[in-house]
Amino acid sequence: MVKVLVIGSGGRCDAICRKIKESELVDFVFCAPGNAGIARHAVNIPIGVEEIDKLAEFALKEKIDLTIVGPEASLSLGIVDKFTSLGLKIFGPTKAATMIESSKSYAKELMKKYHIPTANYEVFTDYEAALAYIKDKKLPIVLKYDGLAAGKGVIIAKTMEEAKTNLYEMLVDKEFGEAKVVIEDFLEGEEFSYMCFVNGTNVYKMIPARDYKRVYDNDLGPNTGGMGAFTALPFLTESDCEYAYQEIMVKAAKALVAEGRPFMGILYGGLIKTADGIKVIEFNARFGDPETEVVLSCLDSDLYQNICDIMAGTTPKLMWDTRPTLGVVLTSIGYPGPYKKGVKLFIPGFDEGYVYHMGTKISGEDIVTNGGRVLMVVASGYTLEEARINAYNMVSQIDTKELYYRKDIGLKFI
Ligand code: AMP
Ligand code: GLY
Repeated sequence: MVKVLVIGSGGRCDAICRKIKESELVDFVFCAPGNAGIARHAVNIPIGVEEIDKLAEFALKEKIDLTIVGPEASLSLGIVDKFTSLGLKIFGPTKAATMIESSKSYAKELMKKYHIPTANYEVFTDYEAALAYIKDKKLPIVLKYDGLAAGKGVIIAKTMEEAKTNLYEMLVDKEFGEAKVVIEDFLEGEEFSYMCFVNGTNVYKMIPARDYKRVYDNDLGPNTGGMGAFTALPFLTESDCEYAYQEIMVKAAKALVAEGRPFMGILYGGLIKTADGIKVIEFNARFGDPETEVVLSCLDSDLYQNICDIMAGTTPKLMWDTRPTLGVVLTSIGYPGPYKKGVKLFIPGFDEGYVYHMGTKISGEDIVTNGGRVLMVVASGYTLEEARINAYNMVSQIDTKELYYRKDIGLKFI
């Protein structure tokens, strides 16, 4: 009897649970806390992602064979250290290895030390020193609050005034708490997310994906958790991928081992293809959301078996569907600002694709919205254009009066 516990509640966990449930080796999937869509594949357990002690208690009581962690919140609280100390098998990085995501300054120092290509930068705690540094810098300039800020800690300042105001808020007003800011050069190019399965120095590629971070079409408006994604990126060559794998992902995994923080789990490279080569914008220590929904939709092999192999130090047999796969995120109106919850959803069943649930819950007989990002509609095609048509066709069959979505996912690349 094999039991798997997945931690999280968003679309990425829906995708993970769906794949794990498909495995013939797995008998039971639990998800904490889960959502209405995850209930299709797993038994939802009402324990929050930060309630590490309760999660461990549950895993011990249920004799869970493998736990897979979705969100950074659990990782940076040390869920992996806790589970491991209790003899529980868990796939994710330790608190020490999660630093590559949870501290921007740590990640930048690591990249500098191990010659991993990234934007030039300096770290500041002092407002006056930061002002002196940016005085002669080219605009725009990038300001990153050092710590987890749910994707909201990055400011791309287009004017000196904007840079000053934000630095003041970060270093003097301490809007986000502990005050440390990475200031780095602005990089220009096509961004992509490269996720790899990692166990120490063993690094296995997933297919790259493109994420859409801004809320409005044409990449305007504030940053969000991600408004859409697609695979089979037309701007990446084989040699780009090989470079990103060897010079960035493998190097980072080796660097973490050399630093005594060996990484186990998903290492996510947020990369950019600039005129000057591929560089790192950020690392994450987990599956990306919404990239995971499109990437795992393309995984033809058994994810549970793959993860067990990686954890055992054997080479996983990963198999990918390389057809373009595209996903459109439907959000609550108002996101990433304030929005209402509890809106009733009508979601038809589809043969031509899949609807992942990001922020939903079951309320009596109904499925209702329960977050900023609500659903992600994913479809494949033989071309990117076909994938796009299929995905938006599905969207058109969902009642979206009380939802918002971008109309231009994938469009620029057709
Ligand atoms: P991060 O949280 O570091 O991923 O930053 C969020 C977004 O800000 C990224 O996906 C980029 O679009 C943008 N960004 C961050 N750093 C830079 C940079 N150095 N140059 C250009 N854009 C950046
Ligand atoms: N999609 C970006 C992230 O997961 O951080």
